[in-house]
Amino acid sequence: MSDQLTAAVVGGSGFTGGELLRLLTGHPDFEVAQATSRQYANKSVGSVHPNLRGTDLRFSAPDDLASVDILFAATPHGVSMQHIDGFQEAADTVVDLSADFRLQTADQYDQWYDGHERPELLEKSVYALPELHREDLPGADLIAAGGCNATATIMGLYPLFQAGILGGDEQVVVDVKVGSSEGGASGGKASSHAERSGIVRPYAPITHRHEAEIEQELGLRVSFTVHAVDMIRGASATCHVFPNERVTKGDLWKAYRGSYEDEPFVRMAAGGGGVYRYPEPKAVAGTNFAEVGFELDPRNKRLVVFSAIDNMMKGSAGQAIHAANIALGLEETAGLDFLGLHPVGAP
Ligand SMILES: NC(=O)c1ccc[n+]([C@@H]2O[C@H](COP(=O)([O-])OP(=O)(O)OC[C@H]3O[C@@H](n4cnc5c(N)ncnc54)[C@H](OP(=O)(O)O)[C@@H]3O)[C@@H](O)[C@H]2O)c1
Repeated sequence: MSDQLTAAVVGGSGFTGGELLRLLTGHPDFEVAQATSRQYANKSVGSVHPNLRGTDLRFSAPDDLASVDILFAATPHGVSMQHIDGFQEAADTVVDLSADFRLQTADQYDQWYDGHERPELLEKSVYALPELHREDLPGADLIAAGGCNATATIMGLYPLFQAGILGGDEQVVVDVKVGSSEGGASGGKASSHAERSGIVRPYAPITHRHEAEIEQELGLRVSFTVHAVDMIRGASATCHVFPNERVTKGDLWKAYRGSYEDEPFVRMAAGGGGVYRYPEPKAVAGTNFAEVGFELDPRNKRLVVFSAIDNMMKGSAGQAIHAANIALGLEETAGLDFLGLHPVGAP
């Protein structure tokens, strides 16, 4: 008998669901017992995700969930909070990739979303940026993987808080550029090739919902704008930070090394040699790495912090597997310990 843990992916036909299935298929400790899709029920997984052709799994409808060790929900906002009882009945551990359990209070959902159906569960869920909440993950039964733009931003700014360079009242302006996969497989008119190709489109100039996560996790208001750009995978955050005190390059290196030196999925890229001197989505495409870097602008009393992730990996499916590994006491990097491709086309 196999001693692997069983996993289900609800929303397995979507973009992040496909990434979860790819990662789980290569994971030494998991076997995929179920992948759901209403639209593609009974169709093979490879017929939707061509990179997974050859696996013999077929989609099934989400109304008949298998009993598994862990369930990943990769469904649109609102679905998990509606079906959470069924998910928790099917699995001891639920990892949700949507925004349904990321915020801690009903008030936040009233302010940023359309309220919450199960607010009593919010304080029990663990927000999974593992770099921030590693201690809370072992044994957690409800895990909320962080949002992609929030993850990119938090990964960039977090060391400044840990080191006391940012205290909470400084001005921080964040500009995130994202690829089209962020919008999911169903897309809309704005995601069609003709409309999307070649763009640099400010799609969320103000009040993006991920501001709420950033504020919650860092205790800081950020002025946050997101551009849709012409790539498929990737989120690249540029944070313009105006600290109250003078900061040196040495302070910055100390802060970033202090936070990330031992992190398995963070790489520093801060003005070294070569073509890719700063964080770059292309350099982390397909991987669970976050790249983080910075530059100092003393003339303008500004720090500029860069971070880059693959939105479907470190920004969702990879982060979810990383959190699951910690929650279940597995090797933290299991199933995620691989590098990306180079050279590679626009991710
Ligand atoms: N894309 C990203 O980069 C990214 C990053 C971070 C977080 N997220 C979050 O992750 C979640 C999934 O995103 P995605 O981009 O993978 O979306 P997607 O490509 O649109 O996939 C959504 C999946 O959910 C299923 N689904 C839709 N409504 C459902 C329902 N009522 N009950 C059960 N299944 C349902 C869909 O399949 P059927 O309709 O066939 O059932 C599909 O498999 C979203 O909450 C998103 O905000 C996405």
